[in-house]
Amino acid sequence: MDKLIIEGGVRLKGEVTVSGAKNSALPILAATLLTDAPCEIKGVPNLRDTNSMFKILRALGKVVEFEKGKVSITAGKNTNYIAEYKLVSTMRASFCVLGPLLGKLKKAKVSLPGGCVIGVRPVDLHLKGMRALGADISIDSGYVIAKTKKLRGAYIYLGGVYGSSVLATDNVMMAAVLASGKTVIESAACEPEVVDLAEFLIKMGAKIKGHGTPTIEVEGVKHLQGATHTVISDRIEAGTLILASLITGGDVLIKNVQGKHLGALIDKLNEAGAHLLRTDGALRVKGRSQLKAVNITTLPYPGFPTDMQAQMMSLMTIADGISVITEKIYPDRFMHVAELNRMGAHIQREGPHAIVEGIKSLSGAPVMASDLRASASLVLAGLAAKGKTSISRIYHLERGYEFIQEKLTNLGAKVWREKE
Ligand code: EPZ
Repeated sequence: MDKLIIEGGVRLKGEVTVSGAKNSALPILAATLLTDAPCEIKGVPNLRDTNSMFKILRALGKVVEFEKGKVSITAGKNTNYIAEYKLVSTMRASFCVLGPLLGKLKKAKVSLPGGCVIGVRPVDLHLKGMRALGADISIDSGYVIAKTKKLRGAYIYLGGVYGSSVLATDNVMMAAVLASGKTVIESAACEPEVVDLAEFLIKMGAKIKGHGTPTIEVEGVKHLQGATHTVISDRIEAGTLILASLITGGDVLIKNVQGKHLGALIDKLNEAGAHLLRTDGALRVKGRSQLKAVNITTLPYPGFPTDMQAQMMSLMTIADGISVITEKIYPDRFMHVAELNRMGAHIQREGPHAIVEGIKSLSGAPVMASDLRASASLVLAGLAAKGKTSISRIYHLERGYEFIQEKLTNLGAKVWREKE
């Protein structure tokens, strides 16, 4: 396994272009299971997670070609309705093949995804939605077995104890598009990636409205055709790059950014005293003197994204004052706290809260990545720290950040790989 070495203290300068959104590409790729017709998805990032989804689609009978961000998907000779544990357990998002398989083939056998370090990751809302649409659902040896004679539209309340669910909304929406009659999903997730999926389904011939609001309506159709679609830019990568410029006191022009998807983050950064200049489709981010500490609470979109919590914590470790960070989506999503403290940060964990007392500067140290966004927070800390930081288990980082080492090097960062 490789580790990433960062010689910190360099102010990042220059231009960088954000890649397509991983969390949009994954459900859209799964949605191609709803038709035998060819589909073309552009702007797909080359990541561990997207390559995992290609493997799953191939195992389900699709022919998948991927080149320069474009995925061409056509039907293979035979279809399969079983998504194996060895594939699903490596990437939780593959669980969203359940809805399309059930919609198209009227049956599915999908491994339960299992948990990960950020939480138990239940799928009760996914299964509640499928049952509401008339599927017979059972659990056997770690697999969800789903079958139905016919899916019927239904009214489904999909709010969970932590609010709306992104992938459950995706899964239920994809099952509903071929159901007979009207489905209403109440307390649906409003994330831009859910909207992007709905737009793709509409291009395939689905009848959907209200996507992006808590109430999505789907009018079932008999058949879906193929479609071509370009996924939206990755708002979490954009947010991470914004913080990379701020934490190093840099001056970076970030291109292919949809500012409207970053409202909560930009609002918090303005409150902290950062100055972000919007130009068409780009954002100029100039790090200035020390930022003020601000309090963060993660919420479903359009609230502050949980996927930016770890990265924001890194920025707050060297802010002026005390920041209270409250994690309301995954209360255990604090694996990065111990690692940041190894770099000299002063962070105290109190249940779903982390209290961050800002210090002047971090010091480089050997640290370990535990999950995708925690690894991003350690990269940010390493860029800002005095001295050398080595981050082990960086395969976590490669799940969600396309060409991140090259992007940072092009901005002047001193970043390289070494064998563990
Ligand atoms: C999506 O995961 C994202 N992944 C996650 O990003 C992101 O953190 C999460 O949404 C929240 O924004 C993809 O889109 C591939 P949820 P998802 O269902 O859909 C609970 C990253 O870093 N819940 O919205 O799996 C759940 O435990 C990843 O890119 C239930 O209780 O998350 C959590 O507390 C990490 N029952 C809350 O809802 C369910 O059936 C929100 O989870 C499903 C979820």
